[in-house]
Amino acid sequence: MPGESKFRHFRHPVTLFGSWLTTVSALLFLGVFFADLVGLPTNPYIGIVFFLILPGFFVCGLALIPLGIVLSRRRERLGKPRHEITWPIIDLNRSYTRRIAGLLVFLTFANIVVISLAAFRGVAYMDSPQFCGQVCHTVMQPEFTAYQNGPHARVHCVACHIGPGAPWFVKAKLSGTRQLFAVALKTYPEPIPSPVQNLRPARDTCEQCHWPEKFTGDRVRVVREYAEDEASTESTTTLQLHVGSGSESMGAHGIHWHMAPSTRVSYITTDEKRQTIVYVEVEDRNGVRTFRADGVTDEQLKKGERRQMDCMDCHNRPSHRFDSTPERAVNDAMGNGLIATTLPFVRREAVAALKVSYASQDAAAAAIGTRLAAFYDRQLGPGAAARKAEVAKAIAATQDIYRRNIFPTMKVTWGTYPNNIGHVDFPGCFRCHDDAKKTSDGRVIKQDCELCHKMG
Ligand code: HEC
Ligand code: HEC
Ligand code: HEC
Ligand code: HEC
Ligand code: HEC
Repeated sequence: MPGESKFRHFRHPVTLFGSWLTTVSALLFLGVFFADLVGLPTNPYIGIVFFLILPGFFVCGLALIPLGIVLSRRRERLGKPRHEITWPIIDLNRSYTRRIAGLLVFLTFANIVVISLAAFRGVAYMDSPQFCGQVCHTVMQPEFTAYQNGPHARVHCVACHIGPGAPWFVKAKLSGTRQLFAVALKTYPEPIPSPVQNLRPARDTCEQCHWPEKFTGDRVRVVREYAEDEASTESTTTLQLHVGSGSESMGAHGIHWHMAPSTRVSYITTDEKRQTIVYVEVEDRNGVRTFRADGVTDEQLKKGERRQMDCMDCHNRPSHRFDSTPERAVNDAMGNGLIATTLPFVRREAVAALKVSYASQDAAAAAIGTRLAAFYDRQLGPGAAARKAEVAKAIAATQDIYRRNIFPTMKVTWGTYPNNIGHVDFPGCFRCHDDAKKTSDGRVIKQDCELCHKMG
């Protein structure tokens, strides 16, 4: 009688469904896994389905198999008739049983292989910039766009945001799960706040690739600016930045002195963007000194955030750098030859077009295009036709500046994210170097221009 077979419990519908689910998802997963290995393209959404949801089904299926068996056993104990799907009767005698046992061992092994592959691919997928940057497309659009245009476009998000080691991996997955809910329920803040609370210290991320003791000497930067007149007159400033070195053997000096192993700078800030610094403590070869702002109370110091300075306190936009003002963005585009300086009033007109507030990126692109085209039709008169290409290129560059910097859906606009390198558009270095915070014997953190750069 078939019902008395040892395998009768395997015929519970839940178990059968589980086996079916497991087999189908394993086959689909393996198919996509090998397609991925040979380099067939996968996009972020296909990734979610195949590398996260499918393995989930696979594991659910596996879990349903014993569940069905348990349910079936219980029914039998209670003397109820079994739920059964009748199959062709196969009489399993002992030699078959052995074979089936062999098959079970094989299948278990195959399951372990599939689960490990799935876990491996799932984790690799969740660590990819596509997953971090594109799955929650709107939310991450500002950071992802800047990332792609930055010097770290080939560095994975996780190299800076998570770094190596199991504890941070677990931390990141927990916080990632919270973020997925925030996206699903639309409870995320707009814009995404900066600084990132509990960002991993730079020594475990940046310093995996950059060695603070390595940099030496000066770095030259040429700043090109253009005036609002018809010729967009150019002026240049050459900055010779004393980046210096954090190396002890060379005598820590210059800008990277803050990062030398024997130097420790910590500070207290009273605002959440870390823009107001009221207290600084230094420990270096010359001992300990503390600088304190005038009029700041002990109460304020206690309530403020205390932080040890690392790379991110200066390089807080290493990967997500937005232009701080439309003027600067247009100057850079002109300096790089993306906007022809020979177009009359181009600096003035491009900046004016970028200063208008638009409802969306598409609306901005359209309006900027119409506005500049109309202006040059008027301005160039009969000569306009001959310079069409030049005008089109300037329009494209201006539209691109908008697209890289302004994200109406996330309320990101000029100046939303302060950049702490420099001191012209944001407080930056001058948060500390203000000639005002004093030690008890009257020493200050200097604002002397030559301390940091020579200008020519
Ligand atoms: C080179 C290192 C680096 C890489 C690579 C990187 N980030 Fe960041 N990210 C940072 C730093 C540094 C901050 C700002 C930290 C601070 O001020 O606390 C930041 C901030 C952010 C923020 C907070 C909002 C903001 O703009 O400050 C988001 C969101 C973010 N990154 C997402 C991403 C995504 C998505 C990727 C990959 C597509 C990525 N990051 C790649 C270093 C990096
Ligand atoms: C996985 C390796 C890697 C990590 C991690 C990394 N960087 Fe970089 N970084 C690079 C490379 C490579 C370049 C050179 C890019 C180029 O010149 O195209 C670079 C360039 C830079 C530059 C010079 C950029 C410029 O405009 O010339 C700065 C500053 C910098 N990184 C800071 C950081 C900071 C701060 C962090 C940590 C938040 C960090 N990096 C993390 C690899 C890394
Ligand atoms: C006190 C602020 C400050 C700190 C802290 C700091 N930097 Fe810098 N760093 C600068 C400035 C300013 C420059 C000059 C270039 C510039 O303006 O972008 C620079 C330049 C660099 C460059 C480019 C060097 C070159 O020769 O092109 C890299 C890479 C870099 N820093 C990495 C780091 C890393 C990694 C850390 C942490 C170990 C760090 N910096 C800490 C201010 C700082
Ligand atoms: C958190 C506070 C803080 C910030 C922010 C800061 N500095 Fe400093 N810096 C200090 C302190 C403190 C000293 C040492 C002052 C003293 O001992 O007289 C110092 C010293 C220096 C020195 C002299 C190092 C030497 O050779 O002895 C340079 C150069 C310098 N900073 C450049 C910069 C630049 C550039 C920036 C911005 C990118 C910056 N600092 C941002 C606190 C800060
Ligand atoms: C604590 C260090 C420090 C001090 C002091 C300092 N600067 Fe700077 N300065 C910087 C850094 C860092 C940058 C930005 C370099 C960059 O963007 O790569 C900068 C950029 C500039 C720029 C170029 C701005 C632009 O448009 O990009 C000018 C101009 C300038 N500084 C003038 C001055 C003058 C004038 C003084 C004296 C009152 C001074 N700085 C003092 C660190 C300093």
